[in-house]
Amino acid sequence: MEGDVTMSDIFRKKSVEELTAHATPLRRTLHTVDLTFLGIGAIIGTGIFVLTGKGALTAGPALSLSFLIAAICCGFAGLCYAEFASIAPVAGSAYTYSYLAFGEIIAFIIGWDLILEYALGAATVSVGWSGYFVNLLTNMGIHIPTVLTAAAGTTAGVHTIFNLPAFLIVLVITWIISVGINQTKRVNDTMVVIKLAVIVLFIVCTVWFIKPHNWVPFSPFGLYSFNHGTAAGIIPAASIVFFSFIGFDSVASSAEETVNPSKTLPRGILLSLLISTVLYIIMTLIMTGVVKYTVFAKFLNAPILAVLHETGQTWLSVIVSIGAILGMTTVILVQLYGQSRITYSMSRDGLFPKFFGEVHERYLTPFKGTWFFGVVTAIAGGFINLNILAELVNIGTLTAFILVSAGILWMRKSHPELHRGFKAPGVPVTPIISIVFCIVLIAGLNWETWVRFLVWFLIGMVVYFLYGKKHSLMND
Ligand code: ALA
Repeated sequence: MEGDVTMSDIFRKKSVEELTAHATPLRRTLHTVDLTFLGIGAIIGTGIFVLTGKGALTAGPALSLSFLIAAICCGFAGLCYAEFASIAPVAGSAYTYSYLAFGEIIAFIIGWDLILEYALGAATVSVGWSGYFVNLLTNMGIHIPTVLTAAAGTTAGVHTIFNLPAFLIVLVITWIISVGINQTKRVNDTMVVIKLAVIVLFIVCTVWFIKPHNWVPFSPFGLYSFNHGTAAGIIPAASIVFFSFIGFDSVASSAEETVNPSKTLPRGILLSLLISTVLYIIMTLIMTGVVKYTVFAKFLNAPILAVLHETGQTWLSVIVSIGAILGMTTVILVQLYGQSRITYSMSRDGLFPKFFGEVHERYLTPFKGTWFFGVVTAIAGGFINLNILAELVNIGTLTAFILVSAGILWMRKSHPELHRGFKAPGVPVTPIISIVFCIVLIAGLNWETWVRFLVWFLIGMVVYFLYGKKHSLMND
Protein backbone atom coordinates (compact mmCIF):
# COMPACT_ATOMS: atom_id res chain seq x y z
CA MET A 1 0.00 0.00 0.00
CA GLU A 2 1.31 3.42 -0.85
CA GLY A 3 2.73 5.26 2.11
CA ASP A 4 3.33 2.14 4.15
CA VAL A 5 6.89 1.74 5.24
CA THR A 6 8.01 -1.83 4.98
CA MET A 7 11.56 -2.98 5.51
CA SER A 8 11.63 -4.75 2.18
CA ASP A 9 10.64 -1.49 0.50
CA ILE A 10 13.28 0.75 1.91
CA PHE A 11 16.00 -1.86 1.55
CA ARG A 12 15.12 -2.88 -2.02
CA LYS A 13 18.27 -3.38 -4.06
CA LYS A 14 19.36 -3.09 -7.62
CA SER A 15 21.29 -5.84 -9.34
CA VAL A 16 24.47 -5.36 -11.35
CA GLU A 17 22.41 -5.96 -14.51
CA GLU A 18 19.91 -3.25 -13.57
CA LEU A 19 22.71 -0.84 -12.83
CA THR A 20 24.57 -1.43 -16.03
CA ALA A 21 21.43 -1.54 -18.19
CA HIS A 22 21.25 2.27 -18.30
CA ALA A 23 24.93 2.73 -18.91
CA THR A 24 25.58 4.23 -22.29
CA PRO A 25 28.58 2.65 -23.89
CA LEU A 26 31.38 5.18 -23.66
CA ARG A 27 34.69 4.95 -25.41
CA ARG A 28 37.33 3.38 -23.24
CA THR A 29 40.33 5.63 -23.60
CA LEU A 30 41.71 6.33 -20.12
CA HIS A 31 44.91 4.66 -18.96
CA THR A 32 46.67 4.70 -15.57
CA VAL A 33 48.50 7.97 -16.28
CA ASP A 34 45.26 9.69 -17.38
CA LEU A 35 43.47 8.52 -14.25
CA THR A 36 46.33 9.68 -12.07
CA PHE A 37 46.14 13.13 -13.65
CA LEU A 38 42.37 13.15 -13.22
CA GLY A 39 42.82 12.24 -9.56
CA ILE A 40 45.47 14.88 -8.90
CA GLY A 41 43.30 17.45 -10.67
CA ALA A 42 40.48 16.71 -8.23
CA ILE A 43 42.63 16.23 -5.13
CA ILE A 44 45.17 19.06 -4.80
CA GLY A 45 43.45 22.33 -3.89
CA THR A 46 42.19 24.19 -0.86
CA GLY A 47 43.37 21.49 1.52
CA ILE A 48 47.06 22.16 0.94
CA PHE A 49 46.85 25.80 -0.15
CA VAL A 50 44.56 26.99 2.67
CA LEU A 51 43.67 24.48 5.38
CA THR A 52 47.34 23.87 6.26
CA GLY A 53 47.23 27.19 8.15
CA LYS A 54 44.50 26.02 10.50
CA GLY A 55 46.09 22.54 10.51
CA ALA A 56 49.47 23.92 11.65
CA LEU A 57 47.82 25.85 14.48
CA THR A 58 45.99 22.67 15.52
CA ALA A 59 48.87 20.16 15.41
CA GLY A 60 52.06 22.24 15.25
CA PRO A 61 54.87 20.83 13.05
CA ALA A 62 53.36 17.34 13.54
CA LEU A 63 50.85 18.41 10.88
CA SER A 64 52.80 16.21 8.47
CA LEU A 65 51.75 13.20 10.56
CA SER A 66 48.13 14.37 10.38
CA PHE A 67 48.41 14.28 6.59
CA LEU A 68 49.85 10.78 6.81
CA ILE A 69 46.94 9.56 8.96
CA ALA A 70 44.37 11.08 6.61
CA ALA A 71 46.20 9.53 3.65
CA ILE A 72 46.19 6.05 5.21
CA CYS A 73 42.45 6.37 5.82
CA CYS A 74 41.88 7.34 2.19
CA GLY A 75 44.21 4.61 0.90
CA PHE A 76 42.23 1.85 2.59
CA ALA A 77 38.91 3.40 1.59
CA GLY A 78 40.31 3.84 -1.94
CA LEU A 79 40.89 0.08 -2.25
CA CYS A 80 37.24 -0.50 -1.34
CA TYR A 81 36.10 2.10 -3.89
CA ALA A 82 38.21 0.38 -6.51
CA GLU A 83 36.64 -3.02 -5.84
CA PHE A 84 33.12 -1.60 -6.11
CA ALA A 85 34.06 0.25 -9.26
CA SER A 86 35.21 -3.04 -10.75
CA ILE A 87 31.96 -4.84 -9.81
CA ALA A 88 29.72 -2.16 -11.25
CA PRO A 89 31.69 0.01 -13.61
CA VAL A 90 29.00 2.67 -13.89
CA ALA A 91 28.90 6.34 -13.03
CA GLY A 92 27.41 7.47 -9.73
CA SER A 93 30.18 6.24 -7.47
CA ALA A 94 29.27 5.43 -3.86
CA TYR A 95 25.59 6.17 -4.43
CA THR A 96 25.35 3.47 -7.06
CA TYR A 97 27.46 1.00 -5.10
CA SER A 98 25.20 1.16 -2.08
CA TYR A 99 22.07 0.58 -4.19
CA LEU A 100 23.74 -2.72 -4.99
CA ALA A 101 25.02 -3.60 -1.54
CA PHE A 102 22.51 -2.28 0.94
CA GLY A 103 19.42 -1.12 -0.87
CA GLU A 104 17.53 2.05 -1.50
CA ILE A 105 17.49 3.90 1.80
CA ILE A 106 21.24 3.59 2.32
CA ALA A 107 21.80 4.60 -1.31
CA PHE A 108 19.68 7.67 -0.66
CA ILE A 109 21.66 8.49 2.49
CA ILE A 110 24.93 8.19 0.57
CA GLY A 111 23.59 10.33 -2.27
CA TRP A 112 22.50 12.88 0.32
CA ASP A 113 26.03 12.73 1.86
CA LEU A 114 27.60 13.16 -1.53
CA ILE A 115 25.68 16.41 -1.93
CA LEU A 116 27.60 17.60 1.13
CA GLU A 117 30.84 16.30 -0.32
CA TYR A 118 30.43 17.89 -3.72
CA ALA A 119 28.25 20.99 -3.30
CA LEU A 120 29.68 22.15 -0.01
CA GLY A 121 33.10 20.91 -1.12
CA ALA A 122 32.90 23.28 -4.08
CA ALA A 123 31.75 26.06 -1.72
CA THR A 124 34.76 25.40 0.54
CA VAL A 125 37.20 25.48 -2.35
CA SER A 126 35.61 28.67 -3.66
CA VAL A 127 36.36 30.36 -0.33
CA GLY A 128 39.98 29.17 -0.56
CA TRP A 129 40.10 30.39 -4.17
CA SER A 130 38.83 33.78 -3.05
CA GLY A 131 41.59 34.16 -0.44
CA TYR A 132 44.34 33.80 -3.06
CA PHE A 133 42.43 35.83 -5.63
CA VAL A 134 41.98 38.80 -3.27
CA ASN A 135 45.68 38.60 -2.37
CA LEU A 136 46.70 38.59 -6.00
CA LEU A 137 44.50 41.58 -6.79
CA THR A 138 45.92 43.45 -3.80
CA ASN A 139 49.42 42.75 -5.12
CA MET A 140 48.37 44.27 -8.40
CA GLY A 141 47.02 47.35 -6.62
CA ILE A 142 43.35 46.46 -7.06
CA HIS A 143 41.28 46.60 -3.88
CA ILE A 144 37.91 44.96 -3.34
CA PRO A 145 36.01 46.52 -0.40
CA THR A 146 36.98 44.43 2.65
CA VAL A 147 33.35 43.77 3.60
CA LEU A 148 32.96 41.86 0.34
CA THR A 149 36.02 39.63 0.73
CA ALA A 150 34.80 37.16 3.36
CA ALA A 151 31.78 35.85 5.22
CA ALA A 152 30.77 37.67 8.41
CA GLY A 153 32.84 36.99 11.51
CA THR A 154 35.59 35.19 9.61
CA THR A 155 38.53 37.34 10.64
CA ALA A 156 38.77 38.71 14.17
CA GLY A 157 38.77 42.50 14.23
CA VAL A 158 37.85 42.85 10.54
CA HIS A 159 34.32 43.73 9.47
CA THR A 160 33.26 41.42 6.65
CA ILE A 161 29.81 40.49 5.34
CA PHE A 162 29.93 38.53 2.12
CA ASN A 163 32.53 36.68 0.06
CA LEU A 164 31.84 38.11 -3.38
CA PRO A 165 34.73 36.45 -5.29
CA ALA A 166 33.75 33.01 -3.91
CA PHE A 167 30.13 33.61 -4.90
CA LEU A 168 31.04 34.72 -8.42
CA ILE A 169 33.54 31.96 -9.23
CA VAL A 170 30.92 29.31 -8.39
CA LEU A 171 28.40 30.99 -10.68
CA VAL A 172 30.90 31.21 -13.53
CA ILE A 173 31.80 27.53 -13.23
CA THR A 174 28.12 26.59 -12.90
CA TRP A 175 27.52 28.34 -16.20
CA ILE A 176 30.42 26.46 -17.83
CA ILE A 177 29.06 23.11 -16.66
CA SER A 178 25.45 23.91 -17.44
CA VAL A 179 26.16 24.70 -21.08
CA GLY A 180 28.08 21.47 -21.41
CA ILE A 181 31.62 22.72 -21.85
CA ASN A 182 33.02 19.70 -20.08
CA GLN A 183 36.44 19.98 -18.74
CA THR A 184 38.44 18.39 -21.45
CA LYS A 185 41.28 16.09 -20.65
CA ARG A 186 43.71 18.56 -22.13
CA VAL A 187 42.56 21.44 -19.92
CA ASN A 188 42.73 19.21 -16.86
CA ASP A 189 46.18 17.92 -17.78
CA THR A 190 47.48 21.46 -18.32
CA MET A 191 46.10 22.61 -14.97
CA VAL A 192 47.60 19.60 -13.22
CA VAL A 193 51.01 20.26 -14.74
CA ILE A 194 50.83 23.92 -13.64
CA LYS A 195 49.70 22.92 -10.17
CA LEU A 196 52.50 20.38 -9.77
CA ALA A 197 55.08 22.75 -11.23
CA VAL A 198 54.12 25.49 -8.78
CA ILE A 199 54.34 23.09 -5.84
CA VAL A 200 57.74 21.78 -6.94
CA LEU A 201 58.95 25.37 -7.48
CA PHE A 202 57.75 26.26 -3.99
CA ILE A 203 59.58 23.27 -2.51
CA VAL A 204 62.81 23.94 -4.36
CA CYS A 205 62.85 27.64 -3.49
CA THR A 206 61.97 27.38 0.18
CA VAL A 207 63.56 24.15 1.44
CA TRP A 208 66.85 26.00 2.05
CA PHE A 209 65.23 28.28 4.60
CA ILE A 210 64.21 25.58 7.06
CA LYS A 211 65.34 26.33 10.60
CA PRO A 212 65.12 23.01 12.46
CA HIS A 213 64.45 24.80 15.77
CA ASN A 214 61.00 25.72 14.38
CA TRP A 215 60.17 22.00 14.50
CA VAL A 216 60.72 21.95 18.27
CA PRO A 217 58.46 21.00 19.95
CA PHE A 218 57.34 18.79 17.08
CA SER A 219 53.98 17.88 18.52
CA PRO A 220 53.00 20.62 21.01
CA PHE A 221 49.46 19.30 21.46
CA GLY A 222 50.09 15.53 21.28
CA LEU A 223 47.66 13.17 19.64
CA TYR A 224 44.51 14.78 21.03
CA SER A 225 44.17 17.51 23.64
CA PHE A 226 42.37 20.75 24.31
CA ASN A 227 43.84 24.15 23.62
CA HIS A 228 41.73 27.07 24.88
CA GLY A 229 38.65 24.86 24.86
CA THR A 230 39.05 23.63 21.27
CA ALA A 231 40.30 20.23 20.19
CA ALA A 232 43.97 20.28 19.20
CA GLY A 233 46.64 17.76 18.27
CA ILE A 234 47.51 15.37 15.46
CA ILE A 235 44.05 13.70 15.22
CA PRO A 236 41.91 16.87 15.15
CA ALA A 237 44.29 18.30 12.53
CA ALA A 238 43.99 15.06 10.51
CA SER A 239 40.20 15.45 10.68
CA ILE A 240 40.56 18.91 9.10
CA VAL A 241 43.20 18.18 6.46
CA PHE A 242 41.35 15.02 5.43
CA PHE A 243 39.71 17.51 3.09
CA SER A 244 42.97 17.62 1.10
CA PHE A 245 42.43 14.08 -0.16
CA ILE A 246 38.79 14.34 -1.13
CA GLY A 247 38.35 13.93 -4.84
CA PHE A 248 40.19 10.66 -5.48
CA ASP A 249 36.81 8.92 -5.70
CA SER A 250 36.23 10.84 -8.92
CA VAL A 251 38.72 8.41 -10.44
CA ALA A 252 36.39 5.51 -9.62
CA SER A 253 33.56 7.37 -11.38
CA SER A 254 35.34 7.09 -14.71
CA ALA A 255 35.19 3.31 -14.63
CA GLU A 256 33.12 3.22 -17.81
CA GLU A 257 35.74 5.10 -19.79
CA THR A 258 38.77 3.22 -18.57
CA VAL A 259 40.84 0.73 -20.48
CA ASN A 260 41.15 -2.46 -18.43
CA PRO A 261 39.53 -0.87 -15.33
CA SER A 262 40.35 -3.78 -13.05
CA LYS A 263 44.03 -2.87 -13.18
CA THR A 264 44.07 0.81 -14.10
CA LEU A 265 41.42 2.03 -11.62
CA PRO A 266 43.11 0.89 -8.42
CA ARG A 267 46.46 2.01 -9.79
CA GLY A 268 45.08 5.44 -10.71
CA ILE A 269 43.44 5.87 -7.32
CA LEU A 270 46.45 4.76 -5.34
CA LEU A 271 49.02 6.61 -7.46
CA SER A 272 47.19 9.93 -7.26
CA LEU A 273 46.86 9.47 -3.49
CA LEU A 274 50.53 8.55 -3.18
CA ILE A 275 51.80 11.51 -5.19
CA SER A 276 49.57 13.96 -3.30
CA THR A 277 50.61 12.50 0.05
CA VAL A 278 54.32 12.79 -0.69
CA LEU A 279 53.91 16.40 -1.85
CA TYR A 280 51.73 17.30 1.13
CA ILE A 281 54.16 15.88 3.66
CA ILE A 282 57.16 17.63 2.11
CA MET A 283 55.22 20.91 1.91
CA THR A 284 54.00 20.84 5.49
CA LEU A 285 57.47 19.99 6.79
CA ILE A 286 58.84 22.96 4.88
CA MET A 287 56.05 25.29 5.96
CA THR A 288 56.42 24.51 9.66
CA GLY A 289 60.22 24.44 9.31
CA VAL A 290 60.55 27.87 7.70
CA VAL A 291 57.94 29.65 9.84
CA LYS A 292 57.05 29.06 13.48
CA TYR A 293 53.64 27.36 13.34
CA THR A 294 52.01 30.09 15.46
CA VAL A 295 52.70 32.66 12.72
CA PHE A 296 50.05 31.03 10.51
CA ALA A 297 47.37 32.61 12.72
CA LYS A 298 47.94 35.78 10.70
CA PHE A 299 47.92 34.02 7.31
CA LEU A 300 44.90 31.73 7.55
CA ASN A 301 43.59 32.70 4.10
CA ALA A 302 46.82 31.98 2.27
CA PRO A 303 49.32 30.23 4.57
CA ILE A 304 51.76 29.47 1.76
CA LEU A 305 52.32 33.20 1.43
CA ALA A 306 53.50 33.35 5.08
CA VAL A 307 56.45 31.20 4.03
CA LEU A 308 57.30 33.34 1.01
CA HIS A 309 56.97 36.44 3.14
CA GLU A 310 59.49 34.97 5.60
CA THR A 311 61.97 34.02 2.88
CA GLY A 312 61.58 37.38 1.14
CA GLN A 313 60.61 35.73 -2.16
CA THR A 314 57.65 37.96 -2.89
CA TRP A 315 58.15 37.47 -6.64
CA LEU A 316 57.25 33.86 -6.07
CA SER A 317 53.98 34.73 -4.30
CA VAL A 318 52.46 35.91 -7.56
CA ILE A 319 53.41 32.71 -9.37
CA VAL A 320 52.26 30.49 -6.50
CA SER A 321 49.01 32.45 -6.17
CA ILE A 322 48.23 32.01 -9.87
CA GLY A 323 49.04 28.29 -9.65
CA ALA A 324 46.85 27.92 -6.56
CA ILE A 325 43.98 29.81 -8.20
CA LEU A 326 44.13 27.68 -11.36
CA GLY A 327 44.51 24.51 -9.32
CA MET A 328 41.50 25.30 -7.16
CA THR A 329 39.45 26.21 -10.23
CA THR A 330 39.73 22.64 -11.53
CA VAL A 331 38.75 21.27 -8.15
CA ILE A 332 35.58 23.41 -8.09
CA LEU A 333 34.80 22.28 -11.62
CA VAL A 334 35.17 18.57 -10.81
CA GLN A 335 33.05 18.95 -7.68
CA LEU A 336 30.21 20.91 -9.27
CA TYR A 337 30.20 18.44 -12.14
CA GLY A 338 30.05 15.51 -9.69
CA GLN A 339 27.24 17.25 -7.84
CA SER A 340 25.11 17.72 -10.93
CA ARG A 341 25.60 14.08 -11.95
CA ILE A 342 24.72 12.68 -8.52
CA THR A 343 21.41 14.54 -8.29
CA TYR A 344 20.80 13.65 -11.93
CA SER A 345 21.25 9.93 -11.11
CA MET A 346 19.03 10.21 -8.03
CA SER A 347 16.36 11.98 -10.02
CA ARG A 348 16.58 9.36 -12.79
CA ASP A 349 15.97 6.71 -10.12
CA GLY A 350 12.93 8.67 -8.89
CA LEU A 351 14.47 9.50 -5.51
CA PHE A 352 14.69 13.20 -6.34
CA PRO A 353 12.18 15.40 -8.21
CA LYS A 354 12.25 15.21 -12.02
CA PHE A 355 13.40 18.83 -12.12
CA PHE A 356 16.96 17.70 -11.28
CA GLY A 357 17.08 15.12 -14.03
CA GLU A 358 15.60 17.14 -16.90
CA VAL A 359 18.10 17.31 -19.70
CA HIS A 360 18.37 20.58 -21.62
CA GLU A 361 17.44 20.11 -25.27
CA ARG A 362 20.31 22.07 -26.70
CA TYR A 363 23.08 21.70 -24.11
CA LEU A 364 22.29 18.08 -23.25
CA THR A 365 23.08 18.73 -19.58
CA PRO A 366 20.90 18.54 -16.45
CA PHE A 367 20.63 22.33 -16.79
CA LYS A 368 18.08 23.21 -14.10
CA GLY A 369 19.56 20.93 -11.45
CA THR A 370 23.03 22.27 -12.17
CA TRP A 371 21.84 25.84 -11.68
CA PHE A 372 19.79 25.01 -8.59
CA PHE A 373 22.79 23.58 -6.77
CA GLY A 374 25.14 26.10 -8.36
CA VAL A 375 23.21 28.95 -6.76
CA VAL A 376 22.94 27.14 -3.41
CA THR A 377 26.69 26.45 -3.48
CA ALA A 378 27.50 30.05 -4.42
CA ILE A 379 25.41 31.36 -1.53
CA ALA A 380 27.06 28.90 0.87
CA GLY A 381 30.51 30.05 -0.32
CA GLY A 382 29.45 33.68 0.07
CA PHE A 383 28.09 33.48 3.58
CA ILE A 384 29.69 30.55 5.43
CA ASN A 385 33.07 30.32 7.09
CA LEU A 386 35.61 28.01 5.40
CA ASN A 387 36.25 25.82 8.45
CA ILE A 388 32.57 25.16 9.09
CA LEU A 389 32.14 24.17 5.45
CA ALA A 390 35.25 21.98 5.32
CA GLU A 391 34.31 20.07 8.48
CA LEU A 392 30.81 19.38 7.17
CA VAL A 393 32.23 18.14 3.89
CA ASN A 394 34.63 15.89 5.80
CA ILE A 395 31.98 14.30 7.98
CA GLY A 396 29.75 13.67 4.95
CA THR A 397 32.59 12.09 3.00
CA LEU A 398 33.85 10.03 5.94
CA THR A 399 30.34 8.63 6.39
CA ALA A 400 30.25 7.72 2.70
CA PHE A 401 33.65 6.01 3.10
CA ILE A 402 32.35 3.99 6.06
CA LEU A 403 29.35 2.80 4.06
CA VAL A 404 31.46 1.92 1.01
CA SER A 405 33.92 -0.03 3.17
CA ALA A 406 31.11 -1.82 5.02
CA GLY A 407 29.61 -2.49 1.59
CA ILE A 408 32.71 -4.44 0.56
CA LEU A 409 32.54 -6.58 3.69
CA TRP A 410 28.88 -7.26 3.04
CA MET A 411 29.22 -7.94 -0.70
CA ARG A 412 32.02 -10.46 -0.18
CA LYS A 413 29.67 -12.41 2.09
CA SER A 414 26.39 -11.96 0.27
CA HIS A 415 27.55 -11.96 -3.37
CA PRO A 416 30.78 -13.96 -3.59
CA GLU A 417 29.75 -15.05 -7.10
CA LEU A 418 29.88 -11.57 -8.68
CA HIS A 419 32.69 -10.90 -11.08
CA ARG A 420 35.26 -8.58 -9.56
CA GLY A 421 37.84 -7.18 -11.93
CA PHE A 422 39.75 -5.97 -8.91
CA LYS A 423 39.68 -7.46 -5.44
CA ALA A 424 40.78 -5.28 -2.56
CA PRO A 425 43.64 -7.12 -0.87
CA GLY A 426 43.41 -8.18 2.75
CA VAL A 427 39.60 -8.23 3.13
CA PRO A 428 38.18 -8.20 5.85
CA VAL A 429 41.10 -6.33 7.43
CA THR A 430 41.29 -3.59 4.76
CA PRO A 431 37.70 -2.31 5.04
CA ILE A 432 37.80 -2.69 8.82
CA ILE A 433 40.93 -0.51 9.04
CA SER A 434 39.26 2.00 6.73
CA ILE A 435 36.16 2.11 8.96
CA VAL A 436 38.24 2.49 12.14
CA PHE A 437 40.25 5.38 10.66
CA CYS A 438 37.06 7.08 9.46
CA ILE A 439 35.51 6.81 12.93
CA VAL A 440 38.67 8.23 14.53
CA LEU A 441 38.64 11.16 12.08
CA ILE A 442 34.93 11.82 12.69
CA ALA A 443 35.68 11.80 16.42
CA GLY A 444 38.34 14.47 15.83
CA LEU A 445 35.80 16.91 14.38
CA ASN A 446 33.95 19.51 16.46
CA TRP A 447 30.74 18.43 18.16
CA GLU A 448 29.01 21.31 16.36
CA THR A 449 29.85 19.56 13.11
CA TRP A 450 28.26 16.33 14.35
CA VAL A 451 25.08 18.25 15.21
CA ARG A 452 24.99 20.01 11.83
CA PHE A 453 25.48 16.68 10.11
CA LEU A 454 22.70 15.10 12.14
CA VAL A 455 20.36 17.91 11.11
CA TRP A 456 21.37 17.41 7.46
CA PHE A 457 20.74 13.66 7.83
CA LEU A 458 17.28 14.20 9.36
CA ILE A 459 16.29 16.60 6.57
CA GLY A 460 17.42 13.89 4.13
CA MET A 461 15.20 11.32 5.84
CA VAL A 462 12.21 13.66 5.57
CA VAL A 463 12.91 14.09 1.84
CA TYR A 464 13.25 10.33 1.40
CA PHE A 465 10.06 9.36 3.22
CA LEU A 466 7.95 12.21 1.85
CA TYR A 467 9.25 12.06 -1.71
CA GLY A 468 11.91 9.48 -2.65
CA LYS A 469 10.25 6.35 -1.38
CA LYS A 470 6.94 7.14 -3.10
CA HIS A 471 8.44 8.11 -6.42
CA SER A 472 11.24 5.56 -6.62
CA LEU A 473 11.28 3.75 -9.96
CA MET A 474 11.74 0.58 -7.96
CA ASN A 475 8.00 0.87 -7.19
CA ASP A 476 7.27 -0.22 -10.76
N1 ALA B 1 40.88 17.84 -2.01
C1 ALA B 1 40.31 19.00 -2.56
C2 ALA B 1 40.96 20.23 -2.05
O1 ALA B 1 41.81 20.16 -1.21
C3 ALA B 1 38.84 19.03 -2.33
O2 ALA B 1 40.63 21.31 -2.50
